Amino acid sequence: MTLVDALRSDLEAARYRVDRLDGLWGAEAEAALRRGNRVPAARALAASAEPVAVLARLFVLGETVAADAVAAALPALGLGGAAELGLLEADAGLARPLVDLRPYAFVDLHGAGEWWIASDLGELATGGTLRVDHVLGVGGASTTLAGLQFSTPVATALDLGTGCGIQALHARRFADRVVATDISERALRYARLNAELNRVEGIEFRLGDLYAPLAGERVDRIVSNPPFVITPRSPEVPAYEYRDGGLEGDALVAAVIAGAAAHLAPGGTAQLLGNWEYRAGVDGLERAADWATDAGLDCWIVEREQLDPARYAETWIRDGGTRPGTPEFERLCAAWLDDFARRGVTGVGFGYLVLRLADGTPPFRRAERVSAPLDEVAGIGAHLAECLAARDLVAALDDETLLGLRLRVAPDVTEERSHWPGEADPSVILLRQGGGLRRELRVDPALAAVVGACDGELPLGVIVDAVAALLETDAAPLRLGIVAEVRELVADGVLRPLV
Ligand SMILES: C[S@@+](CC[C@H](N)C(=O)[O-])C[C@H]1O[C@@H](n2cnc3c(N)ncnc32)[C@H](O)[C@@H]1O
Repeated sequence: MTLVDALRSDLEAARYRVDRLDGLWGAEAEAALRRGNRVPAARALAASAEPVAVLARLFVLGETVAADAVAAALPALGLGGAAELGLLEADAGLARPLVDLRPYAFVDLHGAGEWWIASDLGELATGGTLRVDHVLGVGGASTTLAGLQFSTPVATALDLGTGCGIQALHARRFADRVVATDISERALRYARLNAELNRVEGIEFRLGDLYAPLAGERVDRIVSNPPFVITPRSPEVPAYEYRDGGLEGDALVAAVIAGAAAHLAPGGTAQLLGNWEYRAGVDGLERAADWATDAGLDCWIVEREQLDPARYAETWIRDGGTRPGTPEFERLCAAWLDDFARRGVTGVGFGYLVLRLADGTPPFRRAERVSAPLDEVAGIGAHLAECLAARDLVAALDDETLLGLRLRVAPDVTEERSHWPGEADPSVILLRQGGGLRRELRVDPALAAVVGACDGELPLGVIVDAVAALLETDAAPLRLGIVAEVRELVADGVLRPLV
């Protein structure tokens, strides 16, 4: 039995699982942990001597625990084996954790799953600022990208900047083979450990900068939560490997996009997260879309958030463990604002990027802002993939052929009408999407009537003509306008073509 096998068997025996931890410390302590407060969880665990509680105190809360209790919680691995694996150090009857190791649960199109993920201990456990070669655990951005990953089966996938390996593990569920790269050898060690611990085979780990480890190769899917954080290039500002790719401004995201064109197979797609700068008079979202278009890629970019320079600086200085109000915070904030001012940066956008190396489909470019809270919504990737496929289908049809098609309104779409008091006709009609990007689309009465009649029974053209008759308007111009709007509604996921 290898050390990793022994660790796995101990974690299994302890039933070191998300639902058991939730049960031990409860929802309030869980929420407090997410806010960076471990006290409620520590108090809940202190009352239990069960192995699961000992492991959580050690590897989630980062507490130093009696060595006897740890030895009892890891009977197959033992303290010696745990030390050899680099999980802890034991001395004078105490065991001190050296890594974060916690269960992680997820649901995807293959069903529910759970892994154990090892990474560096976070700021909550160490109580200090992070080391510059910190290897990140599964955070909010990781789960966002995991949900953005497409789940159609492919032969090969690349996870660029794998860190602890979480995206590679997800990608492997839908790819026969995954290449996981990182510039950090420490990160690759964690990623290898996590793959072995969770018995996931078929991931190849390669060290190197950006696409260098994939020179001359093309893959069907690229996933990356790249080190996109904009950092002033100054020796006085720490450059954390996990979030900063070493380039000026948002050049790293531009490089990841440009490189995707050279490493995707025709028809291959990329799902990425990124930041883009708004510069005096230049729209950041359009800049990001231009990077893709200039590289010859189709793109669908969804901006989730825009921060002004001060908010952006505060977010990332805090993320490094430096608190506002300290001289260090003020020094760093000034460095960020100087850097932004030098390039005329007025804001920074964050969002999702879906790219594709087109293989004969009509070119596609969408850059949009979405304000609904989406992070908790699983399956955004599956939704975008479906919308893209449906859009391709209608983009290949001329207007006449599209008018001959039957469409069905998606089951998560509802209609809301608002009336001025006493008025029979609505002043506003909204189509609301319950899932996907949770769009709220304002439509006119004609389009609302057409969408409402799209139940898959009648061809679009017949419906438009009936609506024209009902509204006593000329059918020809209505057909033209509606066809263009229907193409957008198909890409939005509001209408589905039946073929
Ligand atoms: C934000 S972390 C993402 C970790 C993980 N994939 C996730 O989604 O949670 C970015 C990763 O990129 C790596 N990285 C930084 N610069 C890089 C570069 N120039 N080339 C490749 N990887 C890089 C970092 O070491 C880090 O592991």
